[in-house]
Amino acid sequence: MTSDVAPVRLESGPFERFRQGFPALKRKTYLSVCDKMILHDDVRAAVDRFMDHLAVASANRADHELMVVSSRQKFAQLMNIDASTVAAVRNVSDGVNTIAWAMPMARADNVVVCVDAEHPNNIYPWLRLKRRGNEVRLVGHMPDGSLDIDAMIDAIDDRTRIVTCASVTFAPGHRTDLVKLGEGCRKKGAFLLVDGVQSAGVLAHDLSDLPVDGFATSTSKGLLGLYGYGFLYVSPNWIDRLEPAYLSRPAVAMTTDDHSVMGGLDYAYQPDSRRFEVGSYNLAGACAADASLDLLLGLGIEEIESRVLELSTALNEGIAALGLTPAVPASGPQQSHIVTVGALDAGGHGFSTDPKIAPLSKQLAEAQVIHTIRRGQLRFAVHAYNTMNDVETVLDFIRQS
Ligand SMILES: Cc1ncc(COP(=O)(O)O)c(C=O)c1O
Repeated sequence: MTSDVAPVRLESGPFERFRQGFPALKRKTYLSVCDKMILHDDVRAAVDRFMDHLAVASANRADHELMVVSSRQKFAQLMNIDASTVAAVRNVSDGVNTIAWAMPMARADNVVVCVDAEHPNNIYPWLRLKRRGNEVRLVGHMPDGSLDIDAMIDAIDDRTRIVTCASVTFAPGHRTDLVKLGEGCRKKGAFLLVDGVQSAGVLAHDLSDLPVDGFATSTSKGLLGLYGYGFLYVSPNWIDRLEPAYLSRPAVAMTTDDHSVMGGLDYAYQPDSRRFEVGSYNLAGACAADASLDLLLGLGIEEIESRVLELSTALNEGIAALGLTPAVPASGPQQSHIVTVGALDAGGHGFSTDPKIAPLSKQLAEAQVIHTIRRGQLRFAVHAYNTMNDVETVLDFIRQS
């Protein structure tokens, strides 16, 4: 006898233990890490401990700042880089603007960006540079919405200082060929800056081995931390060539780490990426990131990537078998943890004019299957806490719709 209802697959082991730590998953099928993180109990406990300290004034600022040091180190471990190359920043915008204004640029120098595929926070920082006389070369994307890497490389010339791209686009969700683009940049001496927020904590990046010069992320998505805290990696051979646009005590080299102590008027920048840090830190964000990075490192980023790609393949192929057309390939180098469905740009942020997508999205939302619509496409994203049962839940809905 056959049944339309998929068998519940029981899991055990480290991924299931990880899953158990998310209260949201007891009530919802969460397929929206591409929008925002969900909170793990350990992460909440780390922030609570910090709040408890604040409530009774039981630690000083320097003690709390050890969480910044520790979270930088753990992010560096995740990305296979040295902690000295990592700055604690607020979010992607902060990291991107830091590079935009630290890069020495003459008036006619240019930057290259794929205008249609990037998030607004990796477009407006570059448009701002036009007001100081820089050229912004806006490159289009491929018909399927992925970056046109060849066109980006063709747009690079001797006056190109920065090329920027997302490691995975927020929609449709293609993974970018960073090796090809990075090699194109290296030939002309341009800095490749990656907006890594969609993939950090979900897909494996060996930044020491990639031709990537900068990588900016917040912790508010796959890194499973809080809004308002993030990291900026700057490769060691660029740090000294960049002049921070803002300067305050953390970026000044001194023998003490106490950020209230004034040094000499004749200052030097920190020798490492701390020269890009400004003022007091988001300490709650640092506590959260420190705890979430422990969880991710405990699972292993290679293992997380294998799991999410297995889930996204199953979701992608399952959707295709039901007669809809996923936008991102189900396997291969462009595959990511994001699965999108529907005509690109038939609609916009949060709405779709595609007759199949809008009702399906409504039904899913009513059943607490959390997803988003971006660029008119129905968008799902998996993380290590998702299971094949979550995939089956979505496929059941599509089957019945
Ligand atoms: C690719 C991408 N970049 C940047 C952001 C957000 O930027 P920020 O961290 O500056 O808020 C998002 C958020 O959805 C995103 O998807």
